[in-house]
Amino acid sequence: HTLEMELESIEKGGYEHFMLKEIFEQPRSVHDSMRGRVNSATGQLLLGGLREYLTKMIHARRIIIIGCGTSWHAGLVAEYIFEEFARVPVEVEYASEFRYRNPVINEGDVVIAISQSGETADTLAAIELAKSKGAIIFGVCNVVGSSIPRATHAGAYTHAGPEIGVASTKAFSAQVVVLTMMGIILAKAKGTISETDYRKLLVELETIPEKIEKILSNHKQIEYISDLFKDARNFLFLGRGYNFPVALEGALKLKEISYIHAEGYPAAEMKHGPIALIDEEMPVVFIATKDSSYEKIVSNIQEVRARKGRVIAVVTENDKLISQMAEFIIEIPHTHEALMPLLSVIPLQLLSYYIAVMRGCNVDQPRNLAKSVTVE
Ligand code: AGP
Repeated sequence: HTLEMELESIEKGGYEHFMLKEIFEQPRSVHDSMRGRVNSATGQLLLGGLREYLTKMIHARRIIIIGCGTSWHAGLVAEYIFEEFARVPVEVEYASEFRYRNPVINEGDVVIAISQSGETADTLAAIELAKSKGAIIFGVCNVVGSSIPRATHAGAYTHAGPEIGVASTKAFSAQVVVLTMMGIILAKAKGTISETDYRKLLVELETIPEKIEKILSNHKQIEYISDLFKDARNFLFLGRGYNFPVALEGALKLKEISYIHAEGYPAAEMKHGPIALIDEEMPVVFIATKDSSYEKIVSNIQEVRARKGRVIAVVTENDKLISQMAEFIIEIPHTHEALMPLLSVIPLQLLSYYIAVMRGCNVDQPRNLAKSVTVE
């Protein structure tokens, strides 16, 4: 027994929990996801597994992305990227809904299935269904040799390394990196991306690990904020554009490991209902980085402030405006708008981690949950 405990503490590499270790591993794991695939100096971007099916993808009339939980959130980020740069219609579906709905799938449709474990039953069943209707299935998985990569036509591994904590962290950032690379490769092949954007994205991708490192070095501040909000009974997470899926992800992380009720919303949907929830006891986390929806989200923050909501804002470094409006700000470095989720998700992972620990929760193995959901 004691030997087991000792082994476990070695595996945790000095961290108190696997989740914290995995959060802090992200500069490394994101780098590993790009290793041998991106080279901004030569302009090379390559995913070996994509090559054989690239022509099929170029001609696809639409792309369907399937996954569950956090993997589904990574799919939502990919939707924005694929549509913006590769100009192809994308639908992102919960695997569980997709498979039970008699979906319209045509020969030549491309399905991208995302799964950390590669063993999620609903995702696997959705793949089989789509395959039987003639779709080309592309997998984005973390666990090498798992069931999903074996069931797909082609794929790309995320190479995040083993993820033990039930709450997915480094697998998410790795999925987003791989999906981003896929989107850019497709866009380049279709000629729908400008040379400037292409170059810029490659250069920015390579700077992501060091920027994550910088965010992580600020963990004390996030721990401090966590302490002030650990007793909250509800949380709202709001973002727009590329940061909308990040809002969903922040809420899921908090729910699953701290058992605090949390919801993620696109900030503009507030006025269609959720704004009624706001009072002086409602913490609202805004992901409000400097991007094309910045002005809009600033006015969303004002709406929440006017109703006495407690605003915590994730902002781009040196944001003077929001720092005057929010109760707390968490600064993150600037990057290309399309890559922002890779940075903006990090403080939310830390926030949920610290809150869960402070509430005495079992962060690595939250109640009622398993690392991979192999039941339907
Ligand atoms: C994420 O924190 C969750 N534990 C869960 O939503 C997970 O992402 C989902 O079950 C999908 O798992 P997969 O990526 O292994 O298929």
